[in-house]
Amino acid sequence: VGAASTVATTPAFAPVAATNADTISLPPGYSWRKLIAWGDRLFDTAAPVFDPNTLTRAEQEQRFGQNNDMLALFPATYAFPPAKDQDRMILCANNEYATPDLMYPAITAPSAFTAEHVSAIYAAVGVSVVELERRSEGWRAITNATPGAGRNRRITPFTPVQFSGPAARHPWIAEAARIVNANEPDPGGAPTDAVRCGTMANCAGGYTPWGTYLTAEENFDGFFVGSSRGLDPLRFDDPAFALDESSFAYPAGGFPAALAPRQFNIAENPRGPSLYGWVTEIDPYDSSSTPKKRTALGRCKHECATTALAADGRVAVYMGDDQRDEHVYKFVSRGRFNPADRRANMNLLDDGQLYCAQFLENGQGRWLAITLEAANAAAEREESPIRFRDEGDLLVRVRDAARLLGATPMDRPEDVEAVCDANWRGLGPVLIVCTNNIERGFEHPGSPRRESDRPTSAQNNLTGHILRIDEAGGDCAAEAFLWDVFVMAGDPNSMALTARTRGGPLAHVSTAYKGAPTISGDRFACPDNIFIDSTHRVWIATDGGDSVFADCNDSVLCTPVNAEGPRVMKRFLVGPVGSEICGPLMAPDERAFLCAVQHPGANDVAGTDFSQLRWLGEPATSHFPDGGDSWPRSAVVIVTRDDGGRIGD
Ligand code: FEO
Ligand code: CA
Ligand code: CA
Ligand code: CA
Repeated sequence: VGAASTVATTPAFAPVAATNADTISLPPGYSWRKLIAWGDRLFDTAAPVFDPNTLTRAEQEQRFGQNNDMLALFPATYAFPPAKDQDRMILCANNEYATPDLMYPAITAPSAFTAEHVSAIYAAVGVSVVELERRSEGWRAITNATPGAGRNRRITPFTPVQFSGPAARHPWIAEAARIVNANEPDPGGAPTDAVRCGTMANCAGGYTPWGTYLTAEENFDGFFVGSSRGLDPLRFDDPAFALDESSFAYPAGGFPAALAPRQFNIAENPRGPSLYGWVTEIDPYDSSSTPKKRTALGRCKHECATTALAADGRVAVYMGDDQRDEHVYKFVSRGRFNPADRRANMNLLDDGQLYCAQFLENGQGRWLAITLEAANAAAEREESPIRFRDEGDLLVRVRDAARLLGATPMDRPEDVEAVCDANWRGLGPVLIVCTNNIERGFEHPGSPRRESDRPTSAQNNLTGHILRIDEAGGDCAAEAFLWDVFVMAGDPNSMALTARTRGGPLAHVSTAYKGAPTISGDRFACPDNIFIDSTHRVWIATDGGDSVFADCNDSVLCTPVNAEGPRVMKRFLVGPVGSEICGPLMAPDERAFLCAVQHPGANDVAGTDFSQLRWLGEPATSHFPDGGDSWPRSAVVIVTRDDGGRIGD
């Protein structure tokens, strides 16, 4: 494995001990505060005090959404490269999903939800954009007088968006768009070809050198209700997402399915799911801009969309498809980034080559070009009944294409981050976070090439790992790479746990675990989102680590990218009870660390899901961030050093 040009050092802070405390726990010398939380108003037109029990769709559309995930910061004035010192910035946050159990404290039974509640629940999902201002006391979120008066904005599953790129006119999308637009009133001001389906299931994402936000639509299937049973199978042939009634789990323990808006009922809108699973690009500088679904990047359960510039100025976008045994993708634009003309870059993501990753046993790897000719030839070779009609069809069903072409099934690839220089140029090393895989090798319904080899549980990867690839020639546009294991998660002191992950193939490549670096320092499990800072330290946020190691809530850990030997892990932050930590990020001057605390109170310390406790009348299991006996709220927190120094030094 080649070395990055800057050698990162182990961070200087004293690691945080494992804890189940219902707060943010930090090293000595560091402090946190809430930046913004679910329900905080974005506009002066909303009521000053948030009362979740009276939340309507119209109120939620003026307030920060729930279950925040990906975070990105944009300087208030665009420049490339961004200046390090900023006093005003724009924060973009994904609101991945909404937890009905955690929204209306006064509701005592699922039958008490009304259609008004349910439309507010959907409106809590999507993206929240909010301006930040640095005052003497530090960074604060600010309100705008009215929607449209500044950069603050909510984008929900009802917001008008445009489809662009090769699949924009796909017949499934056209059919679903007609149903959505017939059901959802036109708010006015959007282009005539806009579809009022907004964005949802916004997990991680990315941001571009031209100052736009990329939000990745992940588990969109879970937002649809109803049953496909009885539907004409020819009108319901989207098997890569297993979109049958078993997937429509969103209302379980929450609201009656019949209350969902019509466009989310699969019986009424069987092609509705084709409107989601895309990477959606948002211009945070213009709150009246129409978000664009970039279909050239393919449709899957997109976890992230991380950009890096290739040596010749083309733009690479790395993407994980977070489902067991799904794949890693890379898009390389045809055009080049123009740092002198922001507007010239706005449609770069509509035209380029999409690749899927194939990991070979010898430590080499290939980016396989996903083309119509190659995919149909592979289908013929594999005697698959699948044929792709055109490039749009290929992108709508890109999972099938990747599988046929020989992409390597992965252990739930979540975030992917490239090591870049100060000018966004990828240096070659790229980290791929595989959170876990508890069903390695099992057959998935409807998927054509799932081998049903019924592995024993010893093959399961319970704790996850992070892979490192090094792009050939240190160029993000390369079609070949070397790969290795960056770190195995798990407990270095417990052979039982590591044996479970070492017993089976990694990414279905059997030699991978030999010599894989283990951890020295703090144990962790289920890595999810990562951030690589300017000195190439990696900040790793976990999701579900508390279900493996019950003595510690989900956390953020730090380690250098390119140290040799056992990887020294230092726990930097522990979240409150029942939360996962997402969106690790630093301000441009690296004197503030931000992260998203998602779904505090979703489970208790013993791991029992709150949805099982809630309707039995049990009290909230977390009171984050407001404390006392308050109702828990997802929140963005900001961490600074008490002496004002750089985070980690
Ligand atoms: Fe939304 Fe894969 O995490
Ligand atoms: Ca995630
Ligand atoms: Ca990330
Ligand atoms: Ca996750």
